[in-house]
Amino acid sequence: MSLLELSGVDKKFRGLHALSDVEMSVSEGEIVGVIGPNGAGKTTLFNVICGALKPDSGSVRFSGTDVTGRKPETIARRGMVRTFQLMRPFASMTVAENVSLAAQHHTRGAARLRDHATEVVARVGLEEWAHRPATELPTAGLKRLELARALAARPRVLLLDEVLAGLLPAEREPVLDLLAELREQDGTTLVFIEHIMAAVMRLSDRVLVLDQGAVLATGTPDEVTADPRVIDAYLGEEPTTDADA
Ligand SMILES: Nc1ncnc2c1ncn2[C@@H]1O[C@H](COP(=O)(O)OP(=O)(O)OP(=O)(O)O)[C@@H](O)[C@H]1O
Ligand SMILES: [Mg+2]
Repeated sequence: MSLLELSGVDKKFRGLHALSDVEMSVSEGEIVGVIGPNGAGKTTLFNVICGALKPDSGSVRFSGTDVTGRKPETIARRGMVRTFQLMRPFASMTVAENVSLAAQHHTRGAARLRDHATEVVARVGLEEWAHRPATELPTAGLKRLELARALAARPRVLLLDEVLAGLLPAEREPVLDLLAELREQDGTTLVFIEHIMAAVMRLSDRVLVLDQGAVLATGTPDEVTADPRVIDAYLGEEPTTDADA
């Protein structure tokens, strides 16, 4: 049985068909990569799954329950937690305080809350930053904090929206190791949106390709990267570099 199941999900923004009849099924413990061009609907898909947006039609089932259109807090409390493409920590708080805040609905008692926050901060490698303002973090640190805030909620399914974007190759490695460890040690199910194909190839059991709001292909990383339609719609694109800007 699948842990997360989308059926016929449709979402329009005025004239724009952002999601079109999307079917998706994720099993417990699976790692699914979501790829596709800019504007394909990847973040919108997460917004629908996590309750930030209500689909116009179709359903989202999580762990056997229909959660379509439920509030984000309700869905998070049930164990489905996402990170945001644009990180938005509370600037007036320290790194540890930001993580504690994210943990508070999921951990009872001040001492346990503090211990859990400390453990999560260490797990993402931010110990040395724990008591500094979140605003002082460089990009790589902000990404780790975003991950820590999601982990603080003890996710059963973790949805990651471009957690590697803006990181140097050397900064990506420990994050990739952590994601692999989350599945191996904690049994966490991961769905991750990513443009960095090396990461998609390394982590994914299965890849879902979105193009103009529709599922263009699903399969193993090898299958989708060999699919001419995927190459045509996405992989054949010249990557944008600073030199092009
Ligand atoms: N709240 C909104 N209101 C109106 N249009 C929106 C809204 N959110 C997204 N869109 C539009 O829907 C389309 C899909 O956007 P989305 O952010 O889901 O793409 P994406 O695949 O995540 O792209 P990227 O790779 O750039 O992050 C885009 O054309 C976007 O402009
Ligand atoms: Mg996006």
